[in-house]
Amino acid sequence: MDFKKQLLMTLSKQIKETNTLEVPPNQTFGDFALPCFKLSKKPEELQKSLKLPNFIEKTEVKGPYLNFFIKKEYLAEQVIKKILKEKEKYGSQNLGRNKTITIDMSSPNVAKPFGIGHLRSTIIGNSIAKICEKLGYKIIKINYLGDWGTQFGKLITGYKHFGSEKELQKEPIKYLLDIYVKVNQDPSLEEESRQWFKKLEEGNKEALQLWKRFKDLSLKEFNKIYKILNVTFDVISGESLYNAKMEAIVKELKQKGLLKESEGALVVNLEEYNLGVCIIQKSDGTSLYATRDIALAIDRYKTYKPVKMIYEVGSEQKLHFKQFFKVLELMGNNWAKECVHVDHGLYLDKDGKKFATRKGKTVFMIDILNETIELAKQTIKEKNPNLKNKDEVARKVAIGAIFYGDLKNTRTRDITFNIEKFLDFEGDTGPYIQYTCARASSILKKAGKFKQTVKGINDKEKELIKELGKFPEAVVNANKQLSPHLIANYTFQLSQKFNEFYHACPVLTEKEPIRSSRLAIVQATKYTLASALSLLGIEAPEKM
Ligand code: ARG
Repeated sequence: MDFKKQLLMTLSKQIKETNTLEVPPNQTFGDFALPCFKLSKKPEELQKSLKLPNFIEKTEVKGPYLNFFIKKEYLAEQVIKKILKEKEKYGSQNLGRNKTITIDMSSPNVAKPFGIGHLRSTIIGNSIAKICEKLGYKIIKINYLGDWGTQFGKLITGYKHFGSEKELQKEPIKYLLDIYVKVNQDPSLEEESRQWFKKLEEGNKEALQLWKRFKDLSLKEFNKIYKILNVTFDVISGESLYNAKMEAIVKELKQKGLLKESEGALVVNLEEYNLGVCIIQKSDGTSLYATRDIALAIDRYKTYKPVKMIYEVGSEQKLHFKQFFKVLELMGNNWAKECVHVDHGLYLDKDGKKFATRKGKTVFMIDILNETIELAKQTIKEKNPNLKNKDEVARKVAIGAIFYGDLKNTRTRDITFNIEKFLDFEGDTGPYIQYTCARASSILKKAGKFKQTVKGINDKEKELIKELGKFPEAVVNANKQLSPHLIANYTFQLSQKFNEFYHACPVLTEKEPIRSSRLAIVQATKYTLASALSLLGIEAPEKM
């Protein structure tokens, strides 16, 4: 079905010089254009002499170009038939059969608010997972919680000094954050905090009990967020699991002559790679984030034998990933080159500042999500007062708006978190695309049964069908570049083409066989748009 490839093949057999095919900016110049400036024959000569594949309807000479037009009916027949046959599976492939990819994603920190960066990691990681899955890979989504580190010494100390079970029960994360802030404000608690963390590392029962309680409560709060987002994980892991592996790592690094002592700490010197030093063990004997990541990667590789290990984490951790990937490589792990840090930029607020606080106060993710759902609900009430399941539709629209607002951008870019804009039903937004999908659903519902054959295709229809034909390639490219925005942009293009078609070509009022033919196109669009949205983690309500 790749017309370009097929045409190019036919041409290369007949033209000696290497040639390429361009896609003209506008369909009036045909579907493909052969630039002839560098060829020995003029386009007029080529037009006369070339033997063409049977899907080409005609050719035209425009300046130095020879333009090719695909037969509309043939195109429609090929594309629409395939989609109607494959339904939601359209765009799937088995490139990844028997291959596993792990994705480290979301990974918030226990006893701390779920950050906006964790939201990006959740959204982007989730989409990458779905894109890889579409191509047949086995995906393991891993939520690697920040559940170890000196902050737990502080939290335990704080809780012992001014903790209240009742408050903790009520709003665990907000309350633990308060405690944390208080301890940090009181220098006299520093030593005690260090002691408690030491005790925790040594396996002290009381310390472990409190730690576990903070962790369980936090996870319960995080799960509320994941439920709203409709994101799931295959594995919940955490830094605490890898703390115990520090000694083995230290031993191996020593054996391989990679470890140096520096002011009481143990480090791997990476200066010759321009990566500074990677600290493995602090002078007080405790492990670090990087130490745990090294142990984790080794364990993950052993457990899953993945062809790729993806870490979806903010760009501010670039150096950290470069460092520990390098250490893994120096340790002789060949697979280290298959570790990828898939990074993302910051969320900015409307004034262009880092989005973290509101009027000096921390913003809590659960509040942002609920506010967005509320806003979506208001719009839905205005637009469609009789709609059933308003709450569920509002959740889908709000989450669609947030996911799309993120995923339409190249992930490394900083993006502005602008809920009103994200929620707009017009323009390059999630709700606009969901609305387009709902429009297709509604036409199909009203239509009842129809004959699934295409007839009498016009130019508008052809444009839409061509766009439908591009979906498989968009999936492949999004996977190659680990870039969900290619899918997001595709959903927007497709929606625009569909809406142009919708306004230009009547469907339900049309006579047979055109009516059926158009319905087949609507049906194919619905399958394709809904599966593209699902690759972004966005649900498409039937009505909204
Ligand atoms: N918990 C970390 C943070 O919030 C992110 C962890 C990312 N994953 C990893 N394997 N380092 O910054």
